[in-house]
Amino acid sequence: MWLEILVALVVVVMSVRFWYMYTSGHCTSTRSMVGKTVIITGGTAGIGKETARDLLRRGARVIIACRNMEKGRKVAGELQSHGDGRGEVVVRRLDTSNLSSVRTFAKEVLDTEKAIHVLINNAGTPGMGKRQVTADNLELTMATNHFGHFLLTNLLLGRLKESGPSRVINVSSVVHKFPSKSNLNDLGISNDYSPSKAYRTSKLCNVLFTRELADKMAGTGVTVNSLNPGIVRTEMFDAVSFNFRAFLFHILLVVASKTSIHLAVSEEVEGVTGRYFCDCKEAPMSDLAYQNDLATELWEASVKAVGLKKDEIHY
Ligand SMILES: NC(=O)c1ccc[n+]([C@@H]2O[C@H](COP(=O)([O-])OP(=O)(O)OC[C@H]3O[C@@H](n4cnc5c(N)ncnc54)[C@H](OP(=O)(O)O)[C@@H]3O)[C@@H](O)[C@H]2O)c1
Ligand SMILES: *[C@@H]1O[C@H](CO)[C@@H](O)[C@H](O)[C@H]1NC(C)=O
Ligand SMILES: *[C@@H]1O[C@H](CO)[C@@H](O)[C@H](O)[C@H]1NC(C)=O
Repeated sequence: MWLEILVALVVVVMSVRFWYMYTSGHCTSTRSMVGKTVIITGGTAGIGKETARDLLRRGARVIIACRNMEKGRKVAGELQSHGDGRGEVVVRRLDTSNLSSVRTFAKEVLDTEKAIHVLINNAGTPGMGKRQVTADNLELTMATNHFGHFLLTNLLLGRLKESGPSRVINVSSVVHKFPSKSNLNDLGISNDYSPSKAYRTSKLCNVLFTRELADKMAGTGVTVNSLNPGIVRTEMFDAVSFNFRAFLFHILLVVASKTSIHLAVSEEVEGVTGRYFCDCKEAPMSDLAYQNDLATELWEASVKAVGLKKDEIHY
């Protein structure tokens, strides 16, 4: 009885989701990515893995940037054996919560890759039960979702510019709309910590950064956009039998990764920059995200927080 209700509910939710997807935006590009190099942070699970799979099918050289090399190699093997073998997958270590890991990764990539055409800042953590601080003295969620990607993007900017037209894509979330302005004065999430507060603030930072970087990159051939993939929850299917659950989860993931793929490959968004997308279509950001002074202040605070050096600045 409960199982039937749950299944019916899932079917309704998915139908609404598909209906929304087809009425609100399409991602129909069949563009080949042969000869293109793409970096995906957190390509070992969820939306990142699904995005990697699609780009491999299109023939891209995909660099999976992951914190766990063993898991990374396993996923790479799986993707390569299921793909049609056109693309190439490379696994490299990157812990986005660790600034020295970001610097090491960036150096390796700059030493080995002649070009970077797409950078997908996708790795993310939903926030930990208790506030944790990294070795760089940053709150862990903010470090993983925002500061690490801020540094990474900056370190790769020179190569991205040389490889233009190139694209930077930030996976944000609809929850970027919840924080208020005062949250941006507390990038360490020291006041009244909660995991959701840390997560939401980090996702607002993603959107603000997208806008500031888009301004800084205007006219260089590097476009920068952020997106909301929609909501994919694994827990929702816990009560359903495993195969069915896995099947539904896979479909939801494919839907969720569409917008990342759209921004990475589609001809439609060539030259489009500083925008926010949902279901492959431009969508409004929160009011805060449109405030240029906030974006600039956050940029400067982040430069300090990650210790960006003079020779690491490429804008
Ligand atoms: N799922 C949703 O409903 C939803 C909604 C809105 C936005 N998003 C955003 O979508 C993005 C991807 O999320 P997802 O749902 O696909 O989550 P997921 O399945 O949990 O995947 C997260 C990925 O990030 C990696 N990661 C986490 N911390 C890392 C670190 N310190 N260094 C390197 N990699 C790290 C994970 O690596 P491991 O494999 O090692 O754990 C994993 O590959 C996130 O930015 C998230 O905020 C998701
Ligand atoms: C951070 O990364 C560096 C360089 O890869 C590594 O030596 C160090 O152990 C890492 N620190 C933590 C806390 O993981
Ligand atoms: C993406 O977001 C990260 C983290 O907020 C930021 O550091 C980076 O500059 C952003 N990248 C772009 C291209 O906006």
